[in-house]
Amino acid sequence: MSSTTTQTETREAIRVENLSHKYPAPRRSRRGNDQPARRTLALDGVTFQVKPGEIFGILGPNGGGKTTLFRILSTMLRPSAGEDANAGAANIMAHDVLAEPALVRQQLGVVFQSPSLDGKLTALENLRHQGRLYGLGGGELSRRIDQWIGYFGLADRQGEFVERFSGGMRRRLEVAKALLHEPKLLLMDEPATGLDPAARRDLWQKLMQLRDDKGMTIALTTHLMDEAERCDRLAIIAEGKLIAVDTPTNLKARIGGDVITLEPEAEQNGNDADQLAQAISEKFGPWDEGASPTVADGKVRFEKPDGARVVAEIAAAFPGQIRSLTVGRPTIEDVFLHLTGASLSCSDAG
Ligand SMILES: Nc1ncnc2c1ncn2[C@@H]1O[C@H](COP(=O)(O)OP(=O)(O)OP(=O)(O)O)[C@@H](O)[C@H]1O
Ligand SMILES: [Mg+2]
Repeated sequence: MSSTTTQTETREAIRVENLSHKYPAPRRSRRGNDQPARRTLALDGVTFQVKPGEIFGILGPNGGGKTTLFRILSTMLRPSAGEDANAGAANIMAHDVLAEPALVRQQLGVVFQSPSLDGKLTALENLRHQGRLYGLGGGELSRRIDQWIGYFGLADRQGEFVERFSGGMRRRLEVAKALLHEPKLLLMDEPATGLDPAARRDLWQKLMQLRDDKGMTIALTTHLMDEAERCDRLAIIAEGKLIAVDTPTNLKARIGGDVITLEPEAEQNGNDADQLAQAISEKFGPWDEGASPTVADGKVRFEKPDGARVVAEIAAAFPGQIRSLTVGRPTIEDVFLHLTGASLSCSDAG
């Protein structure tokens, strides 16, 4: 009956099907108002697959549901959609996260959003400790530590206390730690948040090397544009819903034309951007879906197929009212705005 096909070649590294999660309602509102406490629907019927050997990004704003998804995939949180609703399913390397959590954890290296290193231990001690948690020891553990600490360029600093490491070095050590048990899949929650651009580039160079040299599958969450642009494929989520999945190039191609952004002259009566948006909307329509003027951060933004021509017309139509006017090819931020009508507000204060 069971013919052995080359199924392992084709199966997904991650399969998420109609996954939902509702957090329980807070016990009681501190202010004691009469409003019934609401449960938060953090994930709402999310479906996607991650292929072996790709870097897959999950892009979304703060509170979008990224960490919730990450926690379910890493078996730290049981999906639950409430009494009568179906919470869906999630598989890692064909193992169900609910039915086979131990097998899932073997396949997974996990890097959390908050740091998990002990600053009072050296890099070497942090890795030794992690190795023992996975039942490793002796020569085998030493060999793996040497390999990964060298891979991430930390060999000459291995005897130093981690509290003296820079943010970038700590992140690389976190990844080394997650890889000690030699998982097939690396799962990371906002790995580059809080790193400066140079440290981000270093980390990404290593991630791409892991994919290319070792065939590692990498799934990560992010709200950073530069990180999203580097992924092989991206899932965009907002308010718990999956909005689109595709390569960054294809996502950007969904915006038919150029993106024009303009900043009104210094405020005279408080709502110059809104008035300009309204005037442009009337004068330059009709508009494709998602393309018409919107206002975010005091700037007006819209899409037109022939940006350069429209820019000239706008400059002529609103003399003295425009401080700056830019036209460019769409970015992933534009894709997000186009699809959701909201800004990603990529605060990177971490
Ligand atoms: N333990 C919890 N109990 C109740 N609600 C929660 C809990 N954790 C998260 N939420 C809510 O679930 C939603 C999704 O949160 P989640 O942490 O998954 O978002 P995120 O995309 O990771 O955000 P960030 O970019 O800020 O890390 C939010 O509305 C959040 O307030
Ligand atoms: Mg999060």
